[in-house]
Amino acid sequence: MTAPEVVVSGVGKTYGRVRALDDVSLTLRPGTLTALVGPSGCGKSTLLRMIAGLEDVTSGTVRIDGAEPEALRARGDIAVAFQDASLLPWRSVRSNVALALKLARRPAAPDRVDELIRTVGLAGFETARPAELSGGMRQRAAIARALVTEPKLLLLDEPFGAVDELTRRRLNVELPPLWARSPTTALLVTHSIPEAVLLADEVVVMSDRPGRVAARVSVPIERPRRAAHLHSPEFHTLVDEVGDLLGVDREVFEEATQ
Ligand SMILES: Nc1ncnc2c1ncn2[C@@H]1O[C@H](COP(=O)(O)OP(=O)(O)O)[C@@H](O)[C@H]1O
Ligand SMILES: [Mg+2]
Repeated sequence: MTAPEVVVSGVGKTYGRVRALDDVSLTLRPGTLTALVGPSGCGKSTLLRMIAGLEDVTSGTVRIDGAEPEALRARGDIAVAFQDASLLPWRSVRSNVALALKLARRPAAPDRVDELIRTVGLAGFETARPAELSGGMRQRAAIARALVTEPKLLLLDEPFGAVDELTRRRLNVELPPLWARSPTTALLVTHSIPEAVLLADEVVVMSDRPGRVAARVSVPIERPRRAAHLHSPEFHTLVDEVGDLLGVDREVFEEATQ
């Protein structure tokens, strides 16, 4: 099986009087990871939910290999890790992860469930309930849950937002090989520019609300990517480029030069 192609064409979204997204066009190429960065409230989560088939578009289309997202979702081939982890509170970590397999109508795979739980650093917490975990631990459980089905389309919405910096760096290096084992197309929403550059084949920069695609930056750094890449001049040039496109330093610079 090959990884799917996702084509977003002229997509707009309006909530009541709020224009969240305006004429967004974007292609997720098969087998690549696209990172989506942009100011808070510019519609990144909305766009991700539309690609997942969990939100209607107001205008335009989302097609996955030419079909509606629901088609891929019905086959259990899309996995989403949401910003807020959204684990079932009455189930243990192990049972939350295992449930994803069941819902995707995949055979039970207890060894893989426990291996993933270990990989995300939750060994010893298999039987813990979400309420017994920190926010970062819950997010890591949600990542394990998203990966366990080996989805063809992996959608990650700020999955490391609450994860401490050291663990985040470790996961940034250890997780990509897991989804690279099988053909996977991935979209990662993140507010960390270094993370976007480290993980992505292409970084899509969105403008302020209403969200539009402001720029696309391709990342020609070889894979597998390692922590050492964080120190390469090539890496820093790309991080600066994305930062300039986002205008992250503009306000600080203007203040400093006034
Ligand atoms: N279910 C909703 N109902 C009403 N407004 C929403 C809803 N979801 C998002 N919005 C609005 O749409 C805009 C984009 O939201 P969102 O996609 O969450 O942005 P981001 O993920 O980039 O921070 C925001 O102004 C937000 O308030
Ligand atoms: Mg969001």
